Amino acid sequence: MNADKKTYHIINYGCQMNQSDSEHYAGQLDAMGYNGIDSYAGADVVLINTCCIRESAEKKIHGKIGELKRLKTEKPGCVIVLAGCMAQKDGEKLLKKYSQLDLVLGTFHISRFAQILSEFLASPKRRVSVEEKLQEGEFESGVGRRSSFAAWVPIMYGCNNFCTYCIVPYVRGRERSRAQGDIIAEMAAAVTQGYTEFTLLGQNVNSYGKDQGRKNAFSELLKAVDAVKGVERIRFMTSHPRDMGKDVIEAVAAGEHLCEHFHLPVQAGSDRIISAMNRGYSSGEYLELVGMVRDLIPAASITTDIIVGFPGETEKDFQATRDMVERVGYDAAYTFLYSARSGTPAAKMPEQVPLDVKKTRLKELMSVQNINGLKRNQSLLGSVQEVMLEGASHKDEQTLSGRTRTNKIVIWPRESREVTPGELIPVKITAAQTWLVKGQEAQ
Ligand code: 5AD
Ligand code: SF4
Repeated sequence: MNADKKTYHIINYGCQMNQSDSEHYAGQLDAMGYNGIDSYAGADVVLINTCCIRESAEKKIHGKIGELKRLKTEKPGCVIVLAGCMAQKDGEKLLKKYSQLDLVLGTFHISRFAQILSEFLASPKRRVSVEEKLQEGEFESGVGRRSSFAAWVPIMYGCNNFCTYCIVPYVRGRERSRAQGDIIAEMAAAVTQGYTEFTLLGQNVNSYGKDQGRKNAFSELLKAVDAVKGVERIRFMTSHPRDMGKDVIEAVAAGEHLCEHFHLPVQAGSDRIISAMNRGYSSGEYLELVGMVRDLIPAASITTDIIVGFPGETEKDFQATRDMVERVGYDAAYTFLYSARSGTPAAKMPEQVPLDVKKTRLKELMSVQNINGLKRNQSLLGSVQEVMLEGASHKDEQTLSGRTRTNKIVIWPRESREVTPGELIPVKITAAQTWLVKGQEAQ
């Protein structure tokens, strides 16, 4: 590392799309000659990429911004940037509230970050950029990937769904798809740099291409990316149960590198609540879709997101969610307490569910799902899985960690030979837990 170089540190919150956006900020800083460092202490630029999906996320971020006041006092020349969804939502307010912030950058200005930062450095004037103005080449700013083998690839930005609980359509704008040729070109270039796993990202990947008037564009894209030379694994998220057609499942079934994992957020099991959420499917239709996945790809894993305590959710509605979780037998479920987001229709709905009721239901749901997760993982016992190595486990250098094609975390003891992240290693599964399986390298 060049000691004279200026440095930056990025603090990321939120979803995979945000992680990808953070890599685009990093790419622009790299191109400006900055060095990334592991902590904000001493950094010349600190960027907080924010999330506002739930109040809990916002609370944490307020705490982090508060913490940075000291840094600004100790090193007044450092530039503190607030970016992402919360910045888009509350930009002006946040700049006023926190004198330590220099730049507030919304979600429509990611690819203009380098220019905005350069302007600030030339003439330091605190500034908010949250206009909902699309940028030419919105997807094409440089990218500084954190991983050496796995690459995020955004295929679309924005969301048109307006689920009644969700803030995303208000902070990320309408759906816009990236050209298929640009996606393929990015992947092919990344392959030459050693990347072999790709995750296609979008708030609703099944809507890919609809803004360009194309039908079945997502399954077409899947077939095209599957054919990119040198690619080992392709994942995608998030699918919307209303929009995911048989064509997508068939593409995954037929594809060589398309991983057998579907993240299919159900959100609730009661038709009344699914409808109040404006999700656009019934519990029956959702189960049919799951049936189709199981028929066409028996080994596929299915994961989901569920919100507990949506306004008006009765005990009976909640039991329908519980039933759904039992019937599907998810590999994993990410469960959330409903959090009212101001500006969304659900925040104004009467009959908000008390926090203690939400918490009790969440606990019950998690215990049902824990049994599912364990059972699904136990079904792998004795099998040999192709695992892509991610690295040493967090806790222990002698334990390696990686994932199956179905996105299960596998841990196993390190052997004496050298290994490289991204390597495919056959591992025999010898023990199962709720969130991971353990094994031994197979010969
Ligand atoms: N409260 C709680 N959870 C939410 N999600 C989205 N909005 C809210 C909210 N207001 C959850 C959904 C979504 C996941 C990313 O976050 O389950 O799929
Ligand atoms: Fe991602 Fe939504 Fe959070 Fe934005 S608000 S970072 S889109 S989860």
